Amino acid sequence: MLTREQNELLTRVGPGTRMGDMLREYWMPAIRSAALERDGAPQCVRLVGENFVAFRATDGRVGFIDEACPHRSASMALGRNEHGGLRCIFHGWKISPDGKVVDTPCEPADRRVAFAAAQRVRAFPVHEVGGIVWVYLGKQATPPRFPEFEFTKLPASHVDVRRGLVHYNWVQGLEAHIDSSHVGILHSGFIAKGQIDTQSRDLNLTMVNIAPEFEMDMTSYGLREGALRDVGGGKTYARIRQIVLPFFTFIPGTKEDVCSGRATVPVDDEWDAEWYIVYDPNKPLTEKRLGALYAGASQDPNDFAANLGNHGNLWHQDREAMKNGHWSGLTRNIPFEDFIIQSSMGSNVDRSKEQLGAADAILVRTRRLLLDGLDEYQRTGIVPWRSDDIDFNAIRALAVTFPSGQDWRQFSPDILAHKAAAE
Ligand code: FES
Ligand SMILES: [Fe+2]
Repeated sequence: MLTREQNELLTRVGPGTRMGDMLREYWMPAIRSAALERDGAPQCVRLVGENFVAFRATDGRVGFIDEACPHRSASMALGRNEHGGLRCIFHGWKISPDGKVVDTPCEPADRRVAFAAAQRVRAFPVHEVGGIVWVYLGKQATPPRFPEFEFTKLPASHVDVRRGLVHYNWVQGLEAHIDSSHVGILHSGFIAKGQIDTQSRDLNLTMVNIAPEFEMDMTSYGLREGALRDVGGGKTYARIRQIVLPFFTFIPGTKEDVCSGRATVPVDDEWDAEWYIVYDPNKPLTEKRLGALYAGASQDPNDFAANLGNHGNLWHQDREAMKNGHWSGLTRNIPFEDFIIQSSMGSNVDRSKEQLGAADAILVRTRRLLLDGLDEYQRTGIVPWRSDDIDFNAIRALAVTFPSGQDWRQFSPDILAHKAAAE
């Protein structure tokens, strides 16, 4: 449970809020690379309560600027993207991808160049990897080190990135990703039917024992969590999650299955961008492997949650399917079950009304970390969870079954990486 004040502190992200100021210091996923065509339509991007426009210029570079034209605030989303810049259709001011006004055609010809050069544009550094345009919205003149997660270093054919826009606050998104104890309940309709391909075999183990024991380690990037289930026969099944604060969670598949990352990035206080990143370090992904994950979802990878539904239609819950044995009646896919449950809480849930139990320990811990991180940032100016020694590439989730009594930590790849580095 949080006080109302703590809840506000965690969830408010607009300009000038404490959380908003801190979140702007991280590289954020902003838009899928594929959504921006050279000289194509500029795209609106709303992030942490502000409106931006992204465009890809003739040479392939991406510009990321305020949506409001620096002249008189007409929307640059209406602009003409041509010949190396985005031109406002109102009076023709043209902005280059590096954020300079390069033309102001309504000004007298003799002073036009000097006038244009004197204008300021709010433009932001971008970095394009992993099929994502990332942006840095913070205050530092030099952007921070980019977190080179494993998926950002793989060939494009090994990575599938989709974004879903959902109507709830970003902390609800984060909490859905880290809450392991719901997996064997909420998702049991899929797991029981084995609809999720190879994952189901392992995930069945979450139903053998739906009250796992949690062990958590604080790490320099956030948290590493082992959800441990005694599955009989002297064996323990561990689902090891990696929580890279503030946005990322890496969730295990199985030995032969793909890795999966999620990012929950605030659009504003009441909307969240859910980034689903599926990747295979060793081989290209196939449609078949992705098909079940997104069954029934919108086929628009820029918003695969577009057809989620709403409270008015109870998100298309299928009571008939429930009669026939599906647990939740939210029959389309597993991500939608998560999105719908979070949406059902309202767009910014009041955490002062909760009644938490032992199975919610990771939520309590993560909220504490976020609040402590905020305090530390305010006191020292040091951005938490981004120390120079973090090997982001080694952070990977894992599901593993092993003889009970062994320590699950020995299977965690980032521990091995850090050990190797220390030797
Ligand atoms: S408002 Fe954009 S050029 Fe005038
Ligand atoms: Fe879930």
